[in-house]
This record gives sequence, C-alpha cells and structure tokens, in this order.
Amino acid sequence: MKIINIKELKDKNLGSLAFFESMNDIPFEIKRVYYIYHVPKGGERGGHAHKSLRQMLFCTYGKIEIILNDGYEKNSVLLDNPSQGLLIGEGIWRDMIWLQEESVLCVVASEYYDETDYIRNYDEFIRLVKEGYWKREN
Ligand code: TYD
Repeated sequence: MKIINIKELKDKNLGSLAFFESMNDIPFEIKRVYYIYHVPKGGERGGHAHKSLRQMLFCTYGKIEIILNDGYEKNSVLLDNPSQGLLIGEGIWRDMIWLQEESVLCVVASEYYDETDYIRNYDEFIRLVKEGYWKREN
C-alpha cells in the first residue's frame, strides 16, 4: 500500500486539474478504469482481495474510508482529497466505507476484469497468505 500525491494544477479562479500517467506516475499500465457512486452514507463495499490485480484508488468527491488488510495487519486510509491516490498491490483484502453522501470512488486497474482473480472468501484469503501465495516484504 502506498499513498501518492497526484499532480495537480491549482488556479484560484479556475479551480484545480489533477492528472497522472500510466508508468510515469503509477507503476503499471492502465487496462481498466471504473468508478463507484450513489452509494448510501455508511454503505460498505469491497470484501475481497485479488490474486494479481494492482489498482490505484482515488476519491474525486467526498470521503471514503479504505481498510486494507494484508492478512497480518489492518491499515485504514481516508480518501477525502482528489489529489491523493492509494496504490494497492496484489493480495490485499479491502473494505470500503462511504462516509459521505455521493462520494465517488475511482479506480484504475492493471488488468481487464477477471472474476477468477478475485478472492471473495476471507478464510481462503488467510489460507493463501499463510501458504505464502504472495511474497511479503516483512
Ligand atoms: P466488485 O469488484 O466486487 O465491487 P465492490 O467491491 O465495490 O463491491 O464488483 C461488483 C460487481 O461488478 C461484480 O459482480 C463484478 C462486476 N464488475 C465488472 O463486471 N467489471 C468491473 O470492472 C468491476 C470492477 C466489477
């Protein structure tokens, strides 16, 4: 997990423009973009990990809590700034909580949609962590 500052151009009259480029600013080629919106306040999504997908999450409007779990420890990241990006590598269980009405979560992903890359069962996730399916730095 890594938080990056997305480059932004701020103008006090015209507002802000943020941008990032595949490989130059984030460490993978972007194959897919999706976004999640109209989630009720307090709504929770996620509840899965990916075998190999890498993603960057950013919140273009509102406030969303992302809880990341590598099978050993949990970290919570608050996305409430459109120029903040959250890089999530493979093998991380994530839960996402909508803290504000009409918050928008945008995601860029390293692969096309593939349901077989999902791990939606928490016990299976923990089993794979313990088996060393993913190389961990610590
Ligand atoms: P999912 O990734 O489980 O979303 P969340 O974690 O926010 O609940 O996806 C929800 C559904 O949408 C699931 O049936 C798969 C489908 N889906 C696609 O068809 N294509 C996509 O690119 C994504 C992200 C999801």
